[in-house]
Amino acid sequence: MRKFLKILIFQSFFIIFSFNLIAAERSHDLLSPGWSFKGFFGKFDRASLQRGYQVYSEVCAACHSMKYLSYRNLYEKGGPEFSKEQAKIIASQFEVNDGPNSEGEMFTRPGRLSDNFVGPYPNEQAATAANGGAYPPDMSVLVKARKGGADYIYSLLLGYEEAPVGMSLDDGVYYNKFMAGNKIKMSNPLSDGIVTYSDGTEPTQEQMTRDVVTFLAWAAEPHLEARHKMGFRAIVYLLIITVLVYFSMKKLWSRIESKV
Ligand code: HEC
Repeated sequence: MRKFLKILIFQSFFIIFSFNLIAAERSHDLLSPGWSFKGFFGKFDRASLQRGYQVYSEVCAACHSMKYLSYRNLYEKGGPEFSKEQAKIIASQFEVNDGPNSEGEMFTRPGRLSDNFVGPYPNEQAATAANGGAYPPDMSVLVKARKGGADYIYSLLLGYEEAPVGMSLDDGVYYNKFMAGNKIKMSNPLSDGIVTYSDGTEPTQEQMTRDVVTFLAWAAEPHLEARHKMGFRAIVYLLIITVLVYFSMKKLWSRIESKV
């Protein structure tokens, strides 16, 4: 039994150590509010995801598309988990280009659950032209695409400051502490009270930032909860195997050991 405990303790240390290594890799200069979805048992906060969708759709969606998401994802398990009815209503508020119909004409119709999120611009060129020559990137997987992930986007949204003296900024360019080169062609999109939350949460700039980043983190990794569950099961499975191997080893060697 002592040997077994040793193996168990060794294994636990190994697991804890590898998680610490992952944690240590993160950059320290970025702000991080402590995310509910980080860590081994991490889960998304449903209410925060729903508020985050609201912030995205009322503020960010004026410029940023999220073309890999479809309205159906809004009620699927592991996401914001709106009801199917709510998701249908959300979808129906958008106009989708469809066709051709039997006369060969294209037409628009209200969105359905199976439609992808409707973007603000018809194409990348139109988006770039409307934003002073800078393309507002599609946000479907932006959390994965940027070093620092959720922490980076959180920091960026809270990182607007007065430019230091001596630094001149062109029209439509803003100073941001966390943007590469400190210059960004997106004005600060959030300010206190810019949305009204129906659940009574106070819409401070920090709260909205936290909610929208949670929403973006889910969009970039919709199966995170399933993955965490699987990881947990795999570890339980390994522990059971360890026990079994230990006892079969003991049995196999028992005769030999007793002769020595
Ligand atoms: C008025 C249009 C507009 C709105 C509204 C807007 N953005 Fe942007 N956003 C842009 C543009 C343009 C860029 C590209 C900036 C650049 O490359 O300098 C950008 C870039 C970004 C980036 C990428 C920064 C990088 O590292 O390249 C993030 C993240 C971002 N926006 C998040 C948001 C979020 C979250 C919201 C909603 C709260 C939002 N934006 C609202 C126009 C907008």
